[in-house]
Amino acid sequence: MKAVILYDSRSSGGSTDAVIDAIGLSLAESGFYVEKAKCTATADYRFLKDFDLVVLGAPVYYFVVASQLLGAFIYGNLKKNLKRKKVALFLVCGSSEPVAALLYLPQLKMHLMRNKILAEKIFAPGALADGTVDSFVEEVLLQYNKVPKSRVLSAKWTDEAKEWFQTMPPFMQGKFKTMAEEYAEEMGYKEITLEVLAEARDNLGGT
Ligand SMILES: Cc1cc2nc3c(=O)[nH]c(=O)nc-3n(C[C@H](O)[C@H](O)[C@H](O)COP(=O)(O)O)c2cc1C
Repeated sequence: MKAVILYDSRSSGGSTDAVIDAIGLSLAESGFYVEKAKCTATADYRFLKDFDLVVLGAPVYYFVVASQLLGAFIYGNLKKNLKRKKVALFLVCGSSEPVAALLYLPQLKMHLMRNKILAEKIFAPGALADGTVDSFVEEVLLQYNKVPKSRVLSAKWTDEAKEWFQTMPPFMQGKFKTMAEEYAEEMGYKEITLEVLAEARDNLGGT
């Protein structure tokens, strides 16, 4: 299992670095091979295909999540290369958790609408002493290792989606059914609707 911690920070050796090192150590102790990579807005993020888990994190400066991480979503190809990736998020900031959850986390989450976010956490600078990093990693691992329930039980096809499915050539139906049910499972959808099928097609087949 391979994890990468993708981050941005203005400081070197600051509180974000400390949190990253603690997360990395904890993941490594749980059997992950871990790398960290500092974001730049225009970097090529195709290398993410080699990783099973992507942890995204940054501090907040002047009410905005550190700019290179946000820039990688807006100007770079980060979003495209996170398709279907298991993602965990953290921020390091001076604001309280409720404020940060309201103002800052959405700045990242708006770019991750189609990702399964395993866990998210707001760390105060100097959070290492209170064990919050370990509990964050525990939550990430718990969600990462969750065994999917039976596909047949968890995601039900709507009548419309079934009807559409019947229009497919029979030789494609088996593969497509599995793909659609696995996608719904991964995204946590309870129903397979026409919209879910379109989304699966965009995410799995689109560029
Ligand atoms: C110039 C500056 C601006 C900051 N602005 C905010 C802010 O708007 N909201 C907030 O919650 N924290 C803010 N903070 C607190 C930082 O997010 C926090 O100290 C963080 O740990 C810095 O990470 P670093 O040590 O990796 O640079 C700011 C800190 C600095 C130095």
